[in-house]
Amino acid sequence: MVGLPARGKTYISQKVCRYLTWLSIKTKVFNVGNYRRKLHGANMPHTFFDPHNCIGEQHRREAAAAAMEDMIRWFNEEQGVVAIYDATNSTIARRKWLHESLSKQDIKVLFIESICQDESLIIANIKEVKLSSPDYANVDPEDAAIDFRARIDHYKEQYETITEENYTYIKLINVGSQTIINMIQVYLESRIVYYLMNLHIAPRKIYFSRHGESQFNVQGKIGGDSFLSPRGELYAAKLPGLISDNLGGKPLTVWTSTMNRTIQTAAGLPYPKMQWKALDELDSGLCDGMTYEEIEQKYPEDYANRDEDKFNYRYRGGESYRDVVLRLEPIIMELERHENILIVGHQAILRCIYAYFMNYDQDDLPYLKIPLHTVIEFTPKAYGCEEKRYKVDIEAVDTHRPKPVKAKAVVKPTATGVPNKPKSVPGASGEIVKDPVSILPLKNHKDKEIPNGTAINGTTNGINGSHSHTNGVTPEAAIAGLHLSDPPKARERLIPSTTKV
Ligand code: F6P
Repeated sequence: MVGLPARGKTYISQKVCRYLTWLSIKTKVFNVGNYRRKLHGANMPHTFFDPHNCIGEQHRREAAAAAMEDMIRWFNEEQGVVAIYDATNSTIARRKWLHESLSKQDIKVLFIESICQDESLIIANIKEVKLSSPDYANVDPEDAAIDFRARIDHYKEQYETITEENYTYIKLINVGSQTIINMIQVYLESRIVYYLMNLHIAPRKIYFSRHGESQFNVQGKIGGDSFLSPRGELYAAKLPGLISDNLGGKPLTVWTSTMNRTIQTAAGLPYPKMQWKALDELDSGLCDGMTYEEIEQKYPEDYANRDEDKFNYRYRGGESYRDVVLRLEPIIMELERHENILIVGHQAILRCIYAYFMNYDQDDLPYLKIPLHTVIEFTPKAYGCEEKRYKVDIEAVDTHRPKPVKAKAVVKPTATGVPNKPKSVPGASGEIVKDPVSILPLKNHKDKEIPNGTAINGTTNGINGSHSHTNGVTPEAAIAGLHLSDPPKARERLIPSTTKV
């Protein structure tokens, strides 16, 4: 990352980290501020950051070096793929040091600079985020704000925007407003750049609802393309009122899958609609149209294998949750770009999208509770998503199957002779990441209370050079520096294309 304090660097780091982690790319943020606090204590006055303060300067260099050391160790010993080095990195000399140290290790560097030209946003960021940082614990907010402004001024004295022609970089000006890119070379870099170009911070709401109860739901069958049950139809009739009561007259776009039950549920919503094949329910292949009991009887090994590793289990002739995550990537991009959206979707699909925003890992994702006849509302905030749930008072069956306490794996070849559990290279997309990085202290994965998450989104008009937004996106700034580990040759295969779009 590159940028002055309070430019949203940490926010951008976390967004990128969550996005890549969701795609199974092993990613971790190294926040140099945390190393500084650990090594030299929090509550440092602004004078600590004065470039003329030799001791402060030395201490800050030590923190930077400690973070770098850990980061390199993580790449080498833990097969990390993308490390995000979250610090100001605001001088040419510091970036040179970073670039040289990492290049020596065969690690590619992508600098992400965030520039903010909107003073009101910087002030909002200081108030919302910085004053609650451990640096200002027990400090009067007004004194803290004054001190933080002075800290920014110290950095401004030395600040050099990135112009190094031979470095790979992206410069985000007023996030979502203008982007300048330089020397993007590999596929993963271009994915990250594209993602960043889609971010915006305009206030908005994202709603999720499963379709109304379907005829198959009532019969306990999975998959299929049935229509709604009578109770499902009642839910569909109530949905427009619920949404408009919450949203008022604001614009909204409704996305559905191409399946009857979501289209029927959305039919009465007086908003523009889009059908996405990518939003179709997880394909249960040969098991489509069966009940869970029938699957257990007919395909006991498959049934046990799914319980053992639900995220990776792929139905015979169908999909796994991992497959679904990959096919949903374009949906996430679009979600980030757009403003108010309502997705009328399916259980497995909404679990995957929910996990992206709320940072759930792969073990928990397939068991998330997304009940029927319930609208989930997300309001993206600076460092998380506020969630509300509206339960509509119409009975529906419960389709949630809890995680089995002790599942037994019976790994046998599938009908195609290929085991369901994919063999994989650590770090590559499609692999099994045993210990997905939890980037945000957003929630305790153990308790399933409504957590904080994160979201922003953006609109973009192009990939190369600068682009402008037309949606009145409010600006924010951030500096980001991303380091792409490059050792194995396979780096360009990190994000495979979607399996089914
Ligand atoms: O039961 C409803 C349903 O949408 C099925 O069509 C689908 O196969 C299932 O949920 C996904 O949930 P799980 O992964 O828990 O089986």
